[in-house]
Amino acid sequence: MIKKLFVCILVCVAFTTVMADEGMWLPSRIKERVKEMRSLGFKLKADDIYSDTKASLKDAVMQFGGGCTGEFISPEGLLLTNHHCGYSSIQKLSSVEHDYLTYGYWAKSKSEELPVPGLTITLLVRMEDITDRVAAGETNASIVAEAEENGRYTAQINSMYYGLQQYLFVYQVFKDVRLVGAPPSSIGKFGGDTDNWIWPRHTGDFSIFRVYANADNEPAEYSADNVPYRPKRFFEISTKGVEEGDFTMIYGFPGNTQEYVTSDAVEYVANVANPMKIELRTKRLEIISEAQAKDAAVRIAYAAKHASIANSWKKWQGESLGLSRLNTIEKKQDYENYFSMWAQSQPQYAHILDSLRVAYKRVAPGYFVRELFNESIGSIEAYNYTVNLANGAAMVDAGTITAGNLLNWRVNFMKDYNVSIDKAIAQYLIDEFIARAPKDIIPSELLAAIDNCGTTEAFVDSIYSNTHLLTAEPLSSVDIQNDIMTTFVGWFNNVVKNNRKYVYRNISNVPEIENWYRPYMQALREWDSNRAFYPDANFTLRVSYGTVTGYENVDGEYHTHLTTLDGIIAKDNPEIYDYNIPQELRDIHSRGDYGRWGVKVNGRTTVPVCFLASNHTSGGNSGSPVINGRGELIGINFDRTWRSTMSDIEFDPTICRNISVDIRYVLFVIDRIGKAGYLLNEMNLK
Ligand code: ARG
Ligand code: GLU
Repeated sequence: MIKKLFVCILVCVAFTTVMADEGMWLPSRIKERVKEMRSLGFKLKADDIYSDTKASLKDAVMQFGGGCTGEFISPEGLLLTNHHCGYSSIQKLSSVEHDYLTYGYWAKSKSEELPVPGLTITLLVRMEDITDRVAAGETNASIVAEAEENGRYTAQINSMYYGLQQYLFVYQVFKDVRLVGAPPSSIGKFGGDTDNWIWPRHTGDFSIFRVYANADNEPAEYSADNVPYRPKRFFEISTKGVEEGDFTMIYGFPGNTQEYVTSDAVEYVANVANPMKIELRTKRLEIISEAQAKDAAVRIAYAAKHASIANSWKKWQGESLGLSRLNTIEKKQDYENYFSMWAQSQPQYAHILDSLRVAYKRVAPGYFVRELFNESIGSIEAYNYTVNLANGAAMVDAGTITAGNLLNWRVNFMKDYNVSIDKAIAQYLIDEFIARAPKDIIPSELLAAIDNCGTTEAFVDSIYSNTHLLTAEPLSSVDIQNDIMTTFVGWFNNVVKNNRKYVYRNISNVPEIENWYRPYMQALREWDSNRAFYPDANFTLRVSYGTVTGYENVDGEYHTHLTTLDGIIAKDNPEIYDYNIPQELRDIHSRGDYGRWGVKVNGRTTVPVCFLASNHTSGGNSGSPVINGRGELIGINFDRTWRSTMSDIEFDPTICRNISVDIRYVLFVIDRIGKAGYLLNEMNLK
């Protein structure tokens, strides 16, 4: 009993006090946090962060594209985001003659700003807790319709706390967004996948765009007549720099966290899903890297694919490691035991944990099949291409796209496609799918065909050499319907169909499970009443705050909060792709000629590059403004340290750190590498 009590006390301490740095708070409720923020150095008021009625910092923050954040830095719609967020736009605008990825791009005047078809930015007009309206019988559809004001806005309802509360978000979507500037990848992606998720970091991960609007300052499709959008608010920029201990605030659109899930969910992520995904991607990355090492063209063609496969692969490893170091599963089990003791006397809650446990047991196998399928058969390029080709052909028939659109897409796909890589990956992934999937879902046609050919390798050879789809030749000469690749795709139709019911953010959001989380969250709020609950990230706007700070990386090894140009020069190596910097940067360094951008760090004059802080961030926070206590921009968020990535499930203030590019490095690169100092004239530098 004494031991039990001791555990309870420990658990209470670990879980009931939210540390200053944990949390992704709803802007409209930031008032509840301001007292603590002030104690850390915040100088403004709650309605400077968010207001329904007057301009506030929220008007300077946007969702950039589908999954990043950006921020306005001028009265003329100039915005900053990460280089990796602008990457696909920059790539789309590039060609061999105009290789903006490699060399960067700087518009010398507004007329040289390049429209990016398809790129949108989304501004939050207002948000509203509509839980009571829904309870009073208003339907989601009518609330949304009213908020959209006849097409002026787009509105969306997001549930928080597994549906305990509903929030309305009203947005304005701008469609004329133009590329203004991007550093060369050797700055914007410096360190590449090698340094990704790693500190010390030296990446100049920024790019610059501008939003255009019609003459009334309203969103409009691209037009040469559009004019720069005049935001209600833009960030002033601090050139004074950061010191350890300074207040920091991140304002952005984090995508996905699951802080309140039970031990069963953590067990599923850490011990079931992550290991499978990591293993399958390890081999895929090996196959790609080997081919890249042999051929420079393949290295380029597979660079973006490699980067995106490796990004999550590396994140999941850090996450699993972090969860095991923190003993998250055991801690959650203790917390649940403690909760159960209380819940026994609460008839309406007594059964919840048991019900959740049963629900996980029932849902996990099917959810796993979906994840396995996505990482195996669903990751074969020819499989995806064939699915998309059939959909595309149907859209051409229906007149929603032109044959030319479809051909362009195929030409683009084939440009970066290497059939021997895909075959090697297909062979591996088919074998893994068969080995790991429950017997009754493996298509019998697949097993029979492999049997017929003798080996998986021979089977893969036969479908890839008999298909006519993997070319950019005119479609008129091929029969998609009767192609062998279409037959292969068709074998999995049932697997795909049966798994549609698991298309949710996380296993915990599958309705069968989520229905139990709703009362569980309700119960936690009653029982663990000292805990400050913030809703899990779901790509809605959030505020997190903390301080500039280093951390102990491993026993006895402290990582300080700031990196500088000296560290870039130390990593510089023309032989290593990820570390080969522009000659210009070497020259500036060797002359020590930093002009106004030089600052003293530990007694040496240099240029600051990246810094660490303790804000709670996640995927989607890329490009988020990092703001000081006066509301000025001091950096752009772009990553977390590897040992932090479990913060999507458990945040540990002693080691969880977000990584930002220092705004002074951004300005230095614009001015000295981009020679685009004129852009600084429209900013407000402090
Ligand atoms: N890890 C960061 C994020 O999750 C940056 C990814 C882009 N950089 C890269 N080297 N792949 O998005
Ligand atoms: N790089 C991530 C993104 O694109 C942010 C890093 C993180 O996951 O914290 O959103």
